[in-house]
Order: sequence, then C-alpha cells, then structure tokens
Amino acid sequence: MSNNLENNRNLVDKANEAANVEFLGPSISYNREDFNTIIEYYSIATLPNDLKKWSFQLVKKNMKKFYENSNMGWNSGNKVKEMREEGARYLIARQFNKVHKDSGENQTIGKPIGFLMFQFTLEETMADDDQEIEAIYCYEIQLTSETRGKGLGKFLMNTMEAIGKHWGMKKSMLTTFKANTAAFNFYRKHLKYEIDEISPSKVLKPKEAKKYDYEILSKVLQN
Ligand SMILES: CC(C)(COP(=O)(O)OP(=O)(O)OC[C@H]1O[C@@H](n2cnc3c(N)ncnc32)[C@H](O)[C@@H]1OP(=O)(O)O)[C@@H](O)C(=O)NCCC(=O)NCCS
Repeated sequence: MSNNLENNRNLVDKANEAANVEFLGPSISYNREDFNTIIEYYSIATLPNDLKKWSFQLVKKNMKKFYENSNMGWNSGNKVKEMREEGARYLIARQFNKVHKDSGENQTIGKPIGFLMFQFTLEETMADDDQEIEAIYCYEIQLTSETRGKGLGKFLMNTMEAIGKHWGMKKSMLTTFKANTAAFNFYRKHLKYEIDEISPSKVLKPKEAKKYDYEILSKVLQN
C-alpha cells in the first residue's frame, strides 16, 4: 500500500472510531419560531432498535416508488442490510416541544421526524488508477412529509459536512435518482453540489449515460 493510501485510510479509521460529535457542542438543535428539533448522533452499534425500524419504514415510504421505477428495483432485505452496515452513522432529528404550563415552562423531546445516514469512506477518483479520496458519503436523508421545506434538510446536510470537515474528509458525496427532481434541485441549486467526476454522465458518452437512472453528486470540503 502506498503512503498516500495508508494516510487516507488512517483518517477514515480515525473518523470511524470516534463515538460522538462533541466538537458541535453539548447537543445539536435546529430551531425556528414554530419548529424546534433536537438532533442526536448514533453509530449503528448505538442506534436503538425502534429507530432502526422507524428509519427503514421512512425510507420505504419515501423512496420505494423511485426504486421500483429504476433499473435497481426495490429490495427490502438489501436496503436493511445497507442501513445496518458497520460503518453506518445516523443523525436523528426529533421534534422538541415546549409545553407551557401555568406553573412555568416544560420541555419534552418528541417523536423522530427525519434522519441522515452517512459513512466515512474512501472513494475512487479519476486521478490515477489507485488514487482514492476520503469522503463523507450521505446514503440517506429522509424527512417525514409534514416537516419538509422548513430548512431541516439543509441543516442536516450542513451538519454532516461539518462532521466531514472536522475529520479531514476531502469531499461530501451522495447518489440520487435523476427522477427525484425535488432532491436533485435541493442538492444542486440550494446546497451547491456538483456532478462528481465518477458519475455516469461524466465518464460515459451521453447515449450510454442515459441508461443510468442516478447521478453521483459531490462537494469539496475545505478545511
Ligand atoms: C429532499 C429533502 C431532504 C430536503 O429537505 P427539506 O428540509 O425539505 O429542505 P429545506 O427546507 O432544507 O430546503 C433547503 C432549500 O432547498 C429548497 N427546496 C427544498 N425542497 C425543495 C423542492 N422540493 N424543490 C425545490 N427546492 C426545494 C428550499 O426552498 C430551500 O431553499 P432556501 O435555502 O433558499 O430557503 C426532503 O424534502 C425529503 O426528505 N424528501 C423526501 C426524501 C428524499 O427525496 N430524500 C433524498 C433522497 S436522495
């Protein structure tokens, strides 16, 4: 293994070993006047079973139709396997209710409303045959329908990017179906993601690339 590859792997290993995101503060929250959320960080080893089930059901509800209309098709077993891989990390957003009582103000942490699942990985590049780059890869970002359009998705993506930067990852990456135009616009226009150099439309001739129903998007993370 070349020195470069070894250094890259060390950074990814170090990020994977980290159990928390203390550098982001004691707790992560996203608040608007009418909408308060608290965000918890889990590895797959610490994610409670009820949240494992809930997150899978939300992916199924939001995404099954896109998979069924794609070359991939929908396979629950494969999706569960992917979502439970050893390197899977979760940001889980819960509704945070401020309950006003006569005697004062009380706070309760409510139901989960969205999540982002990522992994620290080494990804191929077009540079040299064996050159890889450290990346934080967003596998899933899923919100319940009632909580969309309130800035939570952008906040979760920004939080993931901050985690990536903190651990020295060079890129933030994700894969999205071309047919999911809402998500595509969200990444491209609002989060400034580019079509990655390894995405089908960058490496193949247009006629060939057309056969692929997804694109790989990325953003360079500067430290
Ligand atoms: C895609 C998703 C994560 C976006 O999260 P969100 O909280 O709804 O988006 P935000 O409110 O943070 O929006 C951020 C910006 O993107 C824009 N935006 C959000 N959804 C959009 C949409 N459907 N079409 C166009 N623009 C959109 C917002 O206007 C906002 O712009 P601003 O920063 O100028 O105000 C969320 O809608 C979702 O969970 N969708 C269903 C699951 C899904 O498709 N996941 C992606 C799989 S690849």
